[in-house]
Amino acid sequence: MTQRKRVGVLISGRGSNMAALIEACRAPDFPAEIALVISNRPKAAGLETARAAGIAAEVINHKHFPSREAFDESVTERLRSAGVELVCMAGFMRIQSSAFVETWRNRHLNIHPSLLPSFRGLDPHGQALAAGVRVSGATVHFVRDEMDAGPIVAQAVVPVEPGDTADTLAARVLKAEHVLYPHALKLVASGDAWVEGEAVRTRPGAQVLFPSVSA
Ligand code: GRF
Repeated sequence: MTQRKRVGVLISGRGSNMAALIEACRAPDFPAEIALVISNRPKAAGLETARAAGIAAEVINHKHFPSREAFDESVTERLRSAGVELVCMAGFMRIQSSAFVETWRNRHLNIHPSLLPSFRGLDPHGQALAAGVRVSGATVHFVRDEMDAGPIVAQAVVPVEPGDTADTLAARVLKAEHVLYPHALKLVASGDAWVEGEAVRTRPGAQVLFPSVSA
């Protein structure tokens, strides 16, 4: 296998998607390795999870910086010094500056728990329930300036069940996220998925749709 891609994971909280990425990277033939985890919040539970798995996990507290740009520059500097080639956001609750987005253009993934372009931003599950959709899901996409938008790598479909609350739907979608994100990272890190224009192209046969996992 060619060199594994070095990945930096950005978190703000629980870090269950980060944990799924760490787990996937344990496989010897996985085309990526987690070089570093950075949290903007000192109390993020994911920091301990990463360390327990033997992964370097650091805090860069956004509150210690005079501006969004200064915080982002510090994150970029640290990612670069760790030799990071691909950035994965996993529950990272900060809007990033255009400069950061440009620096990492097409090397920067996010997971959002809806079938984009529906239900961007906060409370996607509440939005899905209010809209009465019968399916929701999760999307891994390359990051652009606009929040929760950018070329889509892969999506997972999850049914909305009668009686769902935002919490029950979130829990069902989260299970799908843990399958989807490692798979999407594999596609990108291996070179099986790439951006052309503003869409993601893939090698023939690449799986980019995860049909309903619990129906
Ligand atoms: C996930 O649902 C993710 O899609 C969203 O925030 C949540 C983070 O959960 N962006 P975790 O920190 O990965 O457990």
